[in-house]
Amino acid sequence: MASGSLRRSRPPRTTLGIIGGGQLAQMTHQAAISLDIDVVVLCPDADSPAIRAGARHCPGAPDQLDDLLRLAAQCDVVTLDHEQTPAAMLHELGARGHRVAPGARAAQLGQDKAHARAVLGAAGIAMAPWACTQDLGAVVAFGERHGWPLYLKRPSGGYDGRGVWRADDPADVESIVKETGGDLLVEPAIAFLHELSVVVVRSWRGETVAYPPVETIQRDGRCHEVFAPAGIPRRRSTQAQHLAVAIADAVGLVGAMAVELFVTEDDLLLNELAVRPHNSGHLTIEACATSQFENHVRAVLDLPLGATELIVPGAAMVNVVGGIDGTDPFSRLHHALAVSGARIHRYGKAARPGRKVGHVTATGPSVEAARATATRAAGAMAAVCAA
Ligand SMILES: Nc1ncnc2c1ncn2[C@@H]1O[C@H](COP(=O)(O)OP(=O)(O)OP(=O)(O)O)[C@@H](O)[C@H]1O
Ligand SMILES: [Mg+2]
Repeated sequence: MASGSLRRSRPPRTTLGIIGGGQLAQMTHQAAISLDIDVVVLCPDADSPAIRAGARHCPGAPDQLDDLLRLAAQCDVVTLDHEQTPAAMLHELGARGHRVAPGARAAQLGQDKAHARAVLGAAGIAMAPWACTQDLGAVVAFGERHGWPLYLKRPSGGYDGRGVWRADDPADVESIVKETGGDLLVEPAIAFLHELSVVVVRSWRGETVAYPPVETIQRDGRCHEVFAPAGIPRRRSTQAQHLAVAIADAVGLVGAMAVELFVTEDDLLLNELAVRPHNSGHLTIEACATSQFENHVRAVLDLPLGATELIVPGAAMVNVVGGIDGTDPFSRLHHALAVSGARIHRYGKAARPGRKVGHVTATGPSVEAARATATRAAGAMAAVCAA
């Protein structure tokens, strides 16, 4: 019997465009698959993590308007997996009628640390005292006024601790200023009790949800480990979530954003914003009712957002990085897979010294148990570095 008359036409697929094809696009794509959403990523390299994992490729550069327009022409909404597209170009895409989430105004806050401090400081968000200058005398005077040591940062372009320096005295400042050139953001070293990140997600219609704060542990200025619940009182935790929601609303966020905070004896101080899904939210895949990636997809497509609560007593994530000699930790993957309860995420990236190539998440009956499992699995792969 002819089947043609019985065939039903399938509903058209929604297409999500992502500027950048790294691991954030890869994990966003994984979430999109479950909702039958097509993903196309703009990046120069056909070997990028998201494309290796099956996303469609739009070859091009993130800072070329023609390439961005070619991406936008193929999709319903354009979103980001990095900070490399100038805010003015995001604005231009919007002005030409394309839906861009996050928009230029919010994205710029994640691209320029000095701009974010100026905007959010004026909105009453608590933060360390800061200045932005390339004048050696002005930096030293700042240190005398606010106390040493200082942190000096490139206002834009830094990540994973690149572009961040600690200066213990004027001599350190001098060598950093000489090495860098250009304005530096200056602030005193904060003696924080905890470092937190709160992932917040807001949709076009203004529905906003915040994840439970996670505690982050940095090594050499880079995120090494994340765990939840954070070791802070419930009152602080709620305050951090409210702060993240207030910032998301104030900047008209659409999509996911991480709000990095320092917890001091009596305050929560803003460190920086990452206006996209974030490393500190990777454990939401296993530990929360809805992952940051699924909620990001829902938000940028203006679908109802999912619940964010932890569905386990404790969770932890440890980043997996290339060995100091460039060895690939995943050459010991089988050792990590042998650790019961460890969930391994591999980005398909070539290993280079210190480069993030994956992460391990574990959940457990307590945060201590989860941290122990994740650390054991990541350590089983890192062992090659010590050899
Ligand atoms: N004023 C400060 N006082 C104390 N520690 C600080 C200060 N500023 C930065 N740090 C430390 O340095 C780390 C990196 O700084 P920051 O978050 O500004 O840089 P980044 O490279 O943009 O970070 P990311 O890895 O999140 O992209 C922070 O997570 C924190 O541990
Ligand atoms: Mg940071």
